[in-house]
Amino acid sequence: MKTLHLRIRLEEAEPTHPAILQCAEIIKAGGLVAIPTETVYGLAGDALRPLALERIFAAKERPAWDPLIVHIAALSMVSQVATEFPPQARDLAKAFWPGPLTMLLKKSGAVPREVTAGRDLVAVRFPAHVVARDVITAAGTPLAAPSANRFGRTSPTTAEHVLHDLDGRIDAVLDAGPTNLGVESTVLDPLHTPPLLLRPGGITREQIETVIGAVELYVAPPDQPPKALASPGLAGRHYAPEARVEIVEGERDALLAAARQRAEKQAQSGNYVGVLAPEGWLDESVLAGGGLVIFDWGKWGDWTQLAHNLFSGLRYLDKPGVSVILAPLPPAESLGLALRDRLLKAAK
Ligand code: TXA
Ligand code: MG
Repeated sequence: MKTLHLRIRLEEAEPTHPAILQCAEIIKAGGLVAIPTETVYGLAGDALRPLALERIFAAKERPAWDPLIVHIAALSMVSQVATEFPPQARDLAKAFWPGPLTMLLKKSGAVPREVTAGRDLVAVRFPAHVVARDVITAAGTPLAAPSANRFGRTSPTTAEHVLHDLDGRIDAVLDAGPTNLGVESTVLDPLHTPPLLLRPGGITREQIETVIGAVELYVAPPDQPPKALASPGLAGRHYAPEARVEIVEGERDALLAAARQRAEKQAQSGNYVGVLAPEGWLDESVLAGGGLVIFDWGKWGDWTQLAHNLFSGLRYLDKPGVSVILAPLPPAESLGLALRDRLLKAAK
């Protein structure tokens, strides 16, 4: 299959734009289009058509036990996919939708079982990206859209990333430039007592707690099969480049020492060491030694900037000859929690 590379400028986006209409036609015919969202690019198909859902799983090589998020473009679409919209979910929607918060709600009969991998709860998200919303509106149906990467790999924040993983496997990619946030949406089960934070993401734990009070951070029990987890996609290695990711505990001095030591070791085998390097952390003495490939990650402490750059950094460093990527671990606060989660899973 030839994958079309369609382009749209943000300021031109509207549901009747020719590129949006073309994507809507593809989706209405049961096809797949990778679309930008404010978090990462998503691989979108009609959430209510089992055939489109099957194609999503096949294109990504995603196991059938890993359920898909359903994307809507208006609050009125909730009732299409869920039987209830309880008060705490409504309050969160009021505060954070449209935006990077995904909530688990009781699934309606219209949602095929493939979407939820047979579960009773469906993950619902109302994205903030104007192009994503216009495609949903033009297609006239909720869209199932996992991140548009091969299963287990680094999520795509540009159309080029999508094509790297899925060229020839999907009908089209709609290119609106790099995504803004760079990490995926927060996944929350608001019906659980206390509400369960399944995946930290674009809306922070602190933001959620200001609206509904304390939430619990779900920790997947070790050695359980994915089906036994509250959210199956939390299992195993994820967000991972081909090179091995190695977490460096500590800050600047620890990264300097690790980079120096690893570079010497790797040089003997003819391999390079990649470094996700915060601004100003690597000095001349380390760089002069050679053997390193550096990605300027951004300013340490500016978690928004680091989130924006994380996945493109991992993809940039994942070059032939780079066998290990070193990364320092942000603290478990605000967006840092999502960054830690992605890095720790990539390093598994
Ligand atoms: O920001 C995002 O959420 C992006 C963009 C494209 O919207 N989407 C995304 O989808 O990250 P995906 O499929 O890559 O990750 C969704 C996560 C998976 O870990 C999956 O297991 C979990 O959400 N999930 C989806 N439906 C679920 C359900 N019904 N119950 C529990 N977990 C669910
Ligand atoms: Mg994903």
